[in-house]
Amino acid sequence: MGTPFINFIGPSKLDGFQRGAPAEAQPATIPQTFLEAMEVREAVFIGEQNVPAENEFDADDPRCCHWVVYASVNKTEEAEIRDEQGNVVQPRRSSTRTTPIGTIRLVPFPHESHPENGGDYWNGALKGEVEQQNSKAPSVAAPKTFGIDRATTYHDGKEPYVKLGRLAVLKEFRGHRIAGLLVKTVMSWLKSNPTYFDPSIKELGLEQMGASNEKEVPKWNGLVCVHAQKQVIGAWAKWGFEVDEGMGEWTEEGIAHVGMFQRVEVDSKPARI
Ligand SMILES: CC(C)(COP(=O)(O)OP(=O)(O)OC[C@H]1O[C@@H](n2cnc3c(N)ncnc32)[C@H](O)[C@@H]1OP(=O)(O)O)[C@@H](O)C(=O)NCCC(=O)NCCS
Repeated sequence: MGTPFINFIGPSKLDGFQRGAPAEAQPATIPQTFLEAMEVREAVFIGEQNVPAENEFDADDPRCCHWVVYASVNKTEEAEIRDEQGNVVQPRRSSTRTTPIGTIRLVPFPHESHPENGGDYWNGALKGEVEQQNSKAPSVAAPKTFGIDRATTYHDGKEPYVKLGRLAVLKEFRGHRIAGLLVKTVMSWLKSNPTYFDPSIKELGLEQMGASNEKEVPKWNGLVCVHAQKQVIGAWAKWGFEVDEGMGEWTEEGIAHVGMFQRVEVDSKPARI
């Protein structure tokens, strides 16, 4: 495996994305990097973890930042051929292909409320509520609003936070700290871009943000959350995240999850005008 490199894409219009369709069949407007992120996510979450395909691409994808890590993979096209004396009559022929092997996404605030302790979620909806709402349920989640959430151990229910998610590395490339590289890349990007997701007062208006003056405008102050699959808590802990006991445990697509938080040092910064 050669030295991996990483691509970034910011929030993008993904209208017309067809899940499961090959890259050539996707609308030309969809960024290549996003298609590559989905290639990895489909292999890992749908292919390996049996998450239903229709739940993998979601309404958060267009507003997220995505990172994709690649590797140059050398493949033998034709093996070396030797004659009976051991002389090479045809050298080994190989080709090098750059291929996406890992991905992660960063979801900006605002978010849905914290999951309920003991809740069973499918496609972002709490089971039990799904049946009741189904007749009028929109296929795309309603836009999230700036509101008050329940307080947990690390979150007061009000502070804006960003959320890491959809971390996946192809099975054959695991154990080489690719996931660690992705998480560190995002954390240092956040340090350098602390105002990236702060809402612009001019674009959104104070009222929409639930603020009556500039001081009340939601601003990101370094808080990062992850909804971690329980079997990967150890890895997130290595990357500096701590389990939020107050958030409890829940399942998403049948997989047990907990909430974890980390705070990035952010210099004091002005609100975006
Ligand atoms: C979790 C996953 C992304 C890790 O990818 P990876 O590139 O192999 O991870 P890394 O090599 O960077 O591992 C980082 C560290 O965490 C540890 N680690 C990896 N998986 C772990 C696990 N399941 N439990 C505990 N520790 C784990 C590694 O030992 C490593 O420690 P080290 O740096 O001291 O050697 C990959 O296994 C995967 O895609 N799994 C399926 C999807 C998934 O579960 N995603 C997480 C959703 S929250």
